[in-house]
Amino acid sequence: MSKTLQAIRGMNDILPGQTPVWRYLEGTFAKLLDSYGYSEIRLPILEFTELFARGIGEGTDVVDKEMYTFLDRNEESLTLRPEGTAGCVRAVLEHGLSGGGQVQKLWYAGPMFRYEKPQKGRYRQFHQIGVEVFNQPGPDIDAELIVLTARLWKLLGMADAVSLQLNSLGSSEARAAYRNALVDYLQARFDLLDEDSQRRLTTNPLRILDSKNAQTQALLADAPTLLDYLDEESRRHFDGLRARLDAAGIAYQINPKLVRGLDYYGRTVFEWVTDKLGAQGTVCAGGRYDGLVSQFGGKPTPGVGFAMGVERLVLLLETLGLVPDSLAATPHVYVCAFGEAAELAALTLVEGLRDRLPQLRVWLNAGAGSFKSQFKKADKSGARYALILGDDELTSRVVGCKPLREDGEQQSVCWDDLASWLAERIESA
Ligand code: HAM
Repeated sequence: MSKTLQAIRGMNDILPGQTPVWRYLEGTFAKLLDSYGYSEIRLPILEFTELFARGIGEGTDVVDKEMYTFLDRNEESLTLRPEGTAGCVRAVLEHGLSGGGQVQKLWYAGPMFRYEKPQKGRYRQFHQIGVEVFNQPGPDIDAELIVLTARLWKLLGMADAVSLQLNSLGSSEARAAYRNALVDYLQARFDLLDEDSQRRLTTNPLRILDSKNAQTQALLADAPTLLDYLDEESRRHFDGLRARLDAAGIAYQINPKLVRGLDYYGRTVFEWVTDKLGAQGTVCAGGRYDGLVSQFGGKPTPGVGFAMGVERLVLLLETLGLVPDSLAATPHVYVCAFGEAAELAALTLVEGLRDRLPQLRVWLNAGAGSFKSQFKKADKSGARYALILGDDELTSRVVGCKPLREDGEQQSVCWDDLASWLAERIESA
């Protein structure tokens, strides 16, 4: 027997039982973004490898260890996108969307790919919903991004389960000065560092702040902190952001060790974290990247954004019991037909209903079957009404309408009156 084929490790099927909660989450967010004036952009999943190497940065885990990179038939090096920001910046530049200082408020959703160690909340194909804003340099837009995510948590009912971590990485000069100070401090304690951090000391020293190693973390307690090196303008920006968050009543914790794993950030960085999901607790993360557009060859253009991990948010909704009961799209009516003539009449009747009531969810029985079996299927479908068409109904041009979810007798309703009869009883139809 041949081996059963399986999905690639860390790449999940999202089964019909799970898609309603995905659609709920995506739909809630899409509506929210509409209300804040953000437009959707759809971007390719494959890009030239160079885009990510230059954008995210050599020396980052994502670029050095996690990208799915291959040569195509034309010997070009392509990469499955590990994140959405680099591709979005590329598209904005390529189509001149940020030219002349135009403000762009964009969002995207879709799969991202990273060769990480799969575990709960961490996958090799995962999904993000991301937002990017161009040509807005001030802290007001940083605040808007955070405020709108806070509103999303409220809409989803999970506001108490997430908290906000905030930091400023300052200007590139400030970061360089801080990097030197940190390297000096850690170099003097090199032997006490874990192996990964020893390596990072030369490749990406700021990432040592993220180390999970307890001894390294203990060493860092007395290390110089990034906030002491902030340049004046970045400090003002950070103060402006904090004032707005305070005004909006959004609580946050300043975390001077929050540096993020992608190289393009400067000034504001933030993460929304939860302690309900174990180790993979960051559900949304982002920050400012004012240098990225010019790094890609464009005019200096401020940029800021974030992305949330859809799998993690779905897990959180499930863990907290916040998935609304009514998500599955059960039919309003299930139509049973007995005999060929009734089946033909049922088909035209149902299509007529769909013309009149486009929102009505109608399941027409397929595969014939006895009264008992069709009725069983009608009940199992969760429909509110079974509509019944047999020889008698055909002769009298009526349909038997039987309530399935409440007490009540079956009624005969004229074909011509059926749409209004249903519209009166089913509000959303
Ligand atoms: P990131 O922190 O790499 O940032 O990813 C954002 C979010 O995606 C994470 O907080 C997490 O919820 C989710 N995520 C990341 N990796 C995985 C994984 N392997 N499995 C499941 N979920 C994952 C970015 O990607 C930036 N592009 C965000 C951004 C947009 N910054 C500015 N604009």
